[in-house]
Amino acid sequence: MGRSPIHWAVPAALWFMVLSLAVAISLPTERLSRRELPFEKAVSTIQTRDTEKFLLRIMPLGASITLGYKSTDGNGYREHIRQQLRYEGWEVDMVGSKENGTMYNNVCYPSTEKSRTRSNLFQHHEGHIGFRIDQIAEVVDKTIPKQPNLILINAGTNDAIQKYNVYSAGTRMNSLMTKLFNEIDGTTIILSTLLPNKKEPKLVKAINEQYRTLAAFWRAKNGRVVLADMDSFIKEDQLVDGIHPDDYGYKEMASVWWAAIQVAIAENLLQEASDTAVNGTISKAFEKSLDGNNSLADPDLPAYSAKAQPVLNGGVSDRGLGLVWMVCLQVGVGLVVMTL
Ligand SMILES: *[C@@H]1O[C@H](CO)[C@@H](O)[C@H](O)[C@H]1NC(C)=O
Ligand SMILES: *[C@@H]1O[C@H](CO)[C@@H](O)[C@H](O)[C@H]1NC(C)=O
Ligand SMILES: *[C@@H]1O[C@H](CO)[C@@H](O)[C@H](O)[C@H]1NC(C)=O
Repeated sequence: MGRSPIHWAVPAALWFMVLSLAVAISLPTERLSRRELPFEKAVSTIQTRDTEKFLLRIMPLGASITLGYKSTDGNGYREHIRQQLRYEGWEVDMVGSKENGTMYNNVCYPSTEKSRTRSNLFQHHEGHIGFRIDQIAEVVDKTIPKQPNLILINAGTNDAIQKYNVYSAGTRMNSLMTKLFNEIDGTTIILSTLLPNKKEPKLVKAINEQYRTLAAFWRAKNGRVVLADMDSFIKEDQLVDGIHPDDYGYKEMASVWWAAIQVAIAENLLQEASDTAVNGTISKAFEKSLDGNNSLADPDLPAYSAKAQPVLNGGVSDRGLGLVWMVCLQVGVGLVVMTL
């Protein structure tokens, strides 16, 4: 029986649809198969890093919460997480273009310890009051030359408060992360979800969903990314002004950062910082001479058990499954076309 043109048009259109769908499904898997990029961890079977500790050059990156705004001592979470890491035996040098807070147990850059005094030991950070993700992505240029090997990002609250293109906050965060990975070899990023917020609770939740997917996406690509899920731990009634946590809330933030850093340690993500000709280490003896043993003591962080790291839904992150999908669809459509 002769076929009219309409008989050809229907299967052809179906084929076109299905092939486009298959290409769409296989795209993320294609990205997975390409060569290793600078942000990707080398896949190694040798687990030697477990006990090895080195200098963590940390950039606390974000807005007022990163600065420590509304905390009694102005240090926010920064002193607590530093102390926890020092207690665990890591060298810590916090970097950034700003200095706030009372903590002085950090390194500035005179050549010898003797010339380092309390007045030139600052708490550095890259936390800017009121800044949105896009503004943070610009100002971060100031600290990229310091080549931090660990970056703690808490940013996006101001995008929610300003109702600034909230639906694409994840895309802006992705650009910021891409920039950091491209310009700082081997760095690890801990991306935090936003704290609960009384002004724009729904928008904050919407951004957090994007961040969870974003973290899962980078992790599926072997990126050095860990999610620090703040919003399930810090509660609304711990906000002093509907936005910023109280002192205990800041300490809880340190617990969540610490849990995420432990994931990074366990997964061998952390790499030694590249040499910037700046000695960021500080001896225990010198640190003790500054503040007794305070900054080396157990900070006694609130107990927190971390949630599992996010993974992408379905088989999209899996190359094999992507291919299976494509084959199934093509066979399926072949059958449909044959019966037409
Ligand atoms: C942060 O420090 C700068 C100077 O280093 C100061 O001008 C500013 O008021 C401080 N901000 C807060 C919130 O403490
Ligand atoms: C850096 O400073 C620490 C502590 O003062 C010292 O032990 C170390 O030798 C210094 N390293 C370099 C390369 O100067
Ligand atoms: C610091 O700790 C050491 C033991 O680790 C102790 O001998 C010393 O007295 C302590 N110093 C201060 C100022 O607490």
